Amino acid sequence: MDRLLLILPSATYRARDFLSAARELGVAVTVACERRAAMSAVMGERALMVRLSDPERAAEQIAERARETPFAAVVGVDDQGVVVAALGAERLGLAHNSPAAVVRSRDKAAMRGALAVAGVGQPRFAVLPAGVDAAVVAGRVGFPCVVKPLGLSGSRGVIRADDGEQARAAAERVRAILVAADERADAPLLVESYLPGVEVAVEGLLRGGRLEVLAVFDKPDLLEGPYFEETLYVTPSRLPAAVLAAVEAVAARAADALGLREGPVHAELRVDGERVGVLELAARSIGGLCSRALRFGVGVSLEQVILRHALGLGLDDVVVRESMASGVMMIPIPGAGVLRAVEGQEDARAVDGIAGLEITIARGRSVVPLPEGDRYLGFLFARGTSADAVESSLRVAHACLRVRIEPHAAAERASAR
Ligand SMILES: Nc1ncnc2c1ncn2[C@@H]1O[C@H](COP(=O)(O)OP(=O)(O)O)[C@@H](O)[C@H]1O
Ligand SMILES: [Mg+2]
Repeated sequence: MDRLLLILPSATYRARDFLSAARELGVAVTVACERRAAMSAVMGERALMVRLSDPERAAEQIAERARETPFAAVVGVDDQGVVVAALGAERLGLAHNSPAAVVRSRDKAAMRGALAVAGVGQPRFAVLPAGVDAAVVAGRVGFPCVVKPLGLSGSRGVIRADDGEQARAAAERVRAILVAADERADAPLLVESYLPGVEVAVEGLLRGGRLEVLAVFDKPDLLEGPYFEETLYVTPSRLPAAVLAAVEAVAARAADALGLREGPVHAELRVDGERVGVLELAARSIGGLCSRALRFGVGVSLEQVILRHALGLGLDDVVVRESMASGVMMIPIPGAGVLRAVEGQEDARAVDGIAGLEITIARGRSVVPLPEGDRYLGFLFARGTSADAVESSLRVAHACLRVRIEPHAAAERASAR
């Protein structure tokens, strides 16, 4: 039986979905992860403990383990897993992305540099080193602008600024967020011109350098800032075919410019009339539990598509998404505090078209809105005969939910009593 090495960051939502995909494909799995406790529950056998922040050492450990138990593929999950996967696969002589390309895709400044060299449409940008006045750098880029960290994800620390004062405040706030994320406060930041327009996400699979588009999602809630909380994703996109063709072509050029050639990509682009600009392109699939909105061929999951590709199994009939429209809502976080309850779940589930609802923060735990937050409150899933119907199901179901959050001060008073 083939064995797969699956690199699972502690923060992933997708351990279960990748492990089920492996089971369905009949491959054995070794998990590489950062904390034993995280995985002992799902793994009968010895997991490999690695530090994802030290990719060279982790790749060395993978090579050592492979001498005992050979791996047919190394697959990294989410942003934090992909560099180790590329290095590990390289060590084992397996099909992989070049580690340099993956590193480039994990650093928003390096990504902008590579896209600029290739002339791919994107915002104007400038790197903001620590100690330099954000207002001056933002002034050069032009307003409105967006200040962001180079290496976080999920819109964490991404802030729009409309003038120099706001740019300074944003930069300071981003630095505090970096500290909270155990990153260096004196790291350079990125300042970009704000791209107006509608936003789409492209889910794709690279095979031998060719991008196959698996799905294009509309994001029908306008994301205008100052913070960018993602909510609705609906596929198929309702953009005109010519625009979609342009979006797909730009995404393919972006992957090529970064030097990526194999495996999943998740790209975000903005479309303003004729203009298509790349926000980012990551060498991974869609995050959170959003992949559950996708089904291929006859009921094949995105995780199965990814594993089949990594294992060199046939894919011919499974890269075509089912014909149903589908969508997911990342449930917005309405405020900071302690989550007391999410009421109305039964009503939400009963809404026509709703296919699932998962609350992913436990009662009694803290909820933190963006730009500081790094966790999803939950996910609503819908399916239907049209993208409009799916969008409407998600909105109606969301309106059924009442998220009860107790502000921290009140929660502390209550526990002191
Ligand atoms: N230059 C920009 N112009 C307009 N919106 C932006 C820009 N940069 C980021 N955003 C918004 O912020 C969101 C998150 O930014 P992104 O660069 O994708 O960071 P992350 O890696 O955290 O997802 C984007 O999906 C988009 O809505
Ligand atoms: Mg993004």
